[in-house]
Amino acid sequence: MTATILDGKAFAARIRGEVATHVARLKEEHGITPGLAVVLVGEDPASQVYVRSKGKQTVEVGMASFEHRLDADTSEAELLALVRQLNEDPAVHGILVQLPLPGHLDEDLVINAIDPAKDVDGFHISNVGLLGTGQKAMVPCTPLGCLMMLRDHHGSLSGLDAVVIGRSNIVGKPMASLLLGDSCTVTIAHSRTKDLAEVVRRADIVVAAVGRPQMVPGDWIKPGATVIDVGINRIPAEGDKTRLVGDVDFDSAADVAGAITPVPGGVGPMTIACLLANTVTACCRANGLDEPSGLTA
Ligand code: GUN
Repeated sequence: MTATILDGKAFAARIRGEVATHVARLKEEHGITPGLAVVLVGEDPASQVYVRSKGKQTVEVGMASFEHRLDADTSEAELLALVRQLNEDPAVHGILVQLPLPGHLDEDLVINAIDPAKDVDGFHISNVGLLGTGQKAMVPCTPLGCLMMLRDHHGSLSGLDAVVIGRSNIVGKPMASLLLGDSCTVTIAHSRTKDLAEVVRRADIVVAAVGRPQMVPGDWIKPGATVIDVGINRIPAEGDKTRLVGDVDFDSAADVAGAITPVPGGVGPMTIACLLANTVTACCRANGLDEPSGLTA
């Protein structure tokens, strides 16, 4: 293996440390405690794990955590009433409605009911538009984490060729906007892209966010390129065990790449760290205070 391993676990710990410093300053100098409200509807096991982890890390950095757990059969009117109540609550600076929602609830309607200034997921249509037009937005957490890691490794990204594999609203599209904002030449590739291997081989930066285990082999990677693997896929391992792998075949890619994120321990831990960073940013903006540099796009 020749690639530098980009350690997301350590990087995320650093971000949480910076967030904690800003939270302490907001409390001491302004008497303000940033607050994050997380809404979980139903009992999806993966969502329950995420929500628990978000609540724990929110408290660890000194912020207030408000958890709202609603039954799976909660009506859209009830959920919208809670969102409106959180929009009005001055102790709440960030609101996250955990996805997926149960099938009878319209996700777009619910997300777009969140006050855009409190939309720490960056999923509200206003924030999507602001990001797409290069204006100050709340930025989706996973792409923001990827951007922070890329900036940390490269310094300037200007002029680099970047390929984003995957066109989701949560990762692929905002990632492309962020890379364009940092003056990369950006290609968004997806399942219908012709000659995907050749497209990826041109890239100085590859961001893989397709959700298909190990689909990017090392011989698609340009020697020295930086590989950011957003995938988290569980595959069968020895016996009846399972293991987590990314969208990139790590072993073969690490022999060619200049730098690569592992799975687990790469992009994954950055997502919640960026959620906490977004909550501090939202709190500063709501109070007309300078926002921390280095924690936003
Ligand atoms: N479900 C899985 N990841 C996320 C996320 O980043 N935000 C929300 N709201 N739901 C999710």
